[in-house]
Amino acid sequence: MSFLRQQLSSLSLAFALYKQQKRIKGSSIQSLLNPAWEKQLKEYSLIESNCDLKGNPSYLGRGLYIGNTTLIYNTESIGDFCSISSGVKIGLAAHPKHFLSTSPLFYSASRGLLQNSASFPNSQKKVVIGHDVLISANVLIMEGITIGTGSIIGAGAVVVKDVAPYSIVAGVPAKPIGMRFPDTIVQQLLESSWWNLPLDQILELPHLQDAARIPINRKN
Ligand SMILES: CC(C)(COP(=O)(O)OP(=O)(O)OC[C@H]1O[C@@H](n2cnc3c(N)ncnc32)[C@H](O)[C@@H]1OP(=O)(O)O)[C@@H](O)C(=O)NCCC(=O)NCCS
Repeated sequence: MSFLRQQLSSLSLAFALYKQQKRIKGSSIQSLLNPAWEKQLKEYSLIESNCDLKGNPSYLGRGLYIGNTTLIYNTESIGDFCSISSGVKIGLAAHPKHFLSTSPLFYSASRGLLQNSASFPNSQKKVVIGHDVLISANVLIMEGITIGTGSIIGAGAVVVKDVAPYSIVAGVPAKPIGMRFPDTIVQQLLESSWWNLPLDQILELPHLQDAARIPINRKN
């Protein structure tokens, strides 16, 4: 009997996942999403298994990749063409340092002991992730952080400060270790907003495999 129940529950999970990915062009969704995430997901997304994606993002970009076991909470938006590797944790809630106890039992009504939740500074800030960001394996991003467009976060980093566009940061706490391109190219890439183009036009862009070599904002 319990074997049958197990089979039925795997079948219904498989069916729910099938329904989710059928709706979104070119996508493979291997984790169950809440309706808010499902509504925002765009074409060519790949969400691997056992991800825990919570909250109500206002925007999720095209081509989003999220590797398995990644957790994303308290996140306002993720831009187009972002790659978020496996084992990443984003926007985990802070606990109050100055209350008698750090336990949510004593400040969050959702734990069942209190009638109303107590608020404390920073508890409302959300993470914002720009376009074309690479967040490598096992990165931890604190709540309220803004990750600039085009940046790369090195594997295992703990990000406690905002990350500048097109910078490469790594370590614990994460610090800049370089830039992807010289400043002039960064400026041109940001001004071009190439991520807003239709996919067929992006595929035609001459600099797709070497952005630094071609001045894409050239005026004729
Ligand atoms: C950050 C990263 C992209 C490399 O960037 P890079 O600009 O090529 O950096 P380099 O390898 O030249 O290293 C530059 C310095 O940063 C350090 N560094 C590089 N990656 C680091 C990391 N993840 N954590 C801490 N330090 C790191 C190097 O040790 C080196 O230090 P040094 O100058 O004192 O010798 C790469 O190390 C990384 O983390 N890749 C992610 C891999 C991954 O998770 N892939 C899955 C994606 S789905």
